[in-house]
Amino acid sequence: MTSGGDSPGMNAAIRSVVRTCAYHNVECVGIYRGYEGMMEGDFKSMDARSVKDIINKGGTVLKSARSKEFRTSEGRAIAHQKLKEANIEALVVIGGDGTFNGGLVFNQEYNFPVIGIPGTIDNDIFGTTHTLGFDTALNTVVGCIDKIRDTASSHNRLFFVEVMGRDVGHIALNAGVGAGAEEILIPEENMGLERLLESLQRSKRSGKSSSIVVVAEGDKIGKNVFELKDYVEANLDEYDVRVSVLGHMQRGGSPSCFDRVLASRMGVKAVESLLEGKTNYMVGLINDKVTLTPLEQAVKGKSQIDRELLRVSEIMST
Ligand code: F6P
Repeated sequence: MTSGGDSPGMNAAIRSVVRTCAYHNVECVGIYRGYEGMMEGDFKSMDARSVKDIINKGGTVLKSARSKEFRTSEGRAIAHQKLKEANIEALVVIGGDGTFNGGLVFNQEYNFPVIGIPGTIDNDIFGTTHTLGFDTALNTVVGCIDKIRDTASSHNRLFFVEVMGRDVGHIALNAGVGAGAEEILIPEENMGLERLLESLQRSKRSGKSSSIVVVAEGDKIGKNVFELKDYVEANLDEYDVRVSVLGHMQRGGSPSCFDRVLASRMGVKAVESLLEGKTNYMVGLINDKVTLTPLEQAVKGKSQIDRELLRVSEIMST
């Protein structure tokens, strides 16, 4: 099943899980709409052919949801009953930390085998350098910023571009470096409004006529990106400022080759780990190896921002 915010590569992971099951002669059932569908018994048997032509599709054919009811023990009891009735013996859950938390609690209560596959554009999961959808989202964001730069430089404007990342700055930092942003504001590093103004003034003095500032949605520097615009316009007369919030377009689109390959590798590892009797792990990518991390660590650990990349971004904005 897929759960939480969808991400490009989820379909490729579903395909991989289904085909790995078929390869090992294991029956595979798709659960629709995450934990919501689990509690309703919304299941569908899936064979190798049922996942044809989805490796290249964004979103998730199994649909996704964020479930409040599954957070209650009553909700989980209903879900357990539905799984038992359908003879489902193990779960592969594709999603982010909310999804893994659900799987972990479910395992603790019912000793139900669970393996997680990290699928979220935010890349905010401990135990993997890449979550499914992160790479595709970066390419989408870089493509958008390239276009924004055309208009920014034509009008000598400053643009604040808000990108996704609920509590983390992975998309902002990586896409910001990739798109040559002048400044990157992320929750992990509070730059402060004064330093932002100084930096923009420095940019002007150094001859830059337009600027792109990438802001992670979870950034703490201002209340929101529109207030940042007002603040800069109130304090720096010479700037004509515009805001662009990229929003959910970052979550859609055909997955990159990297995400498709990663999803295929992770799906194989998830199913084969369950067949080896392993449970309560998340499949992740570490040093380009597909690795297992205990689900509890994946949930409790914090993904770290790449400090070296932060330094690179500072040097690049000189
Ligand atoms: O977790 C992925 C994500 O896209 C975040 O970047 C964002 O904060 C959140 O989901 C948005 O969630 P929703 O689609 O429920 O509004």
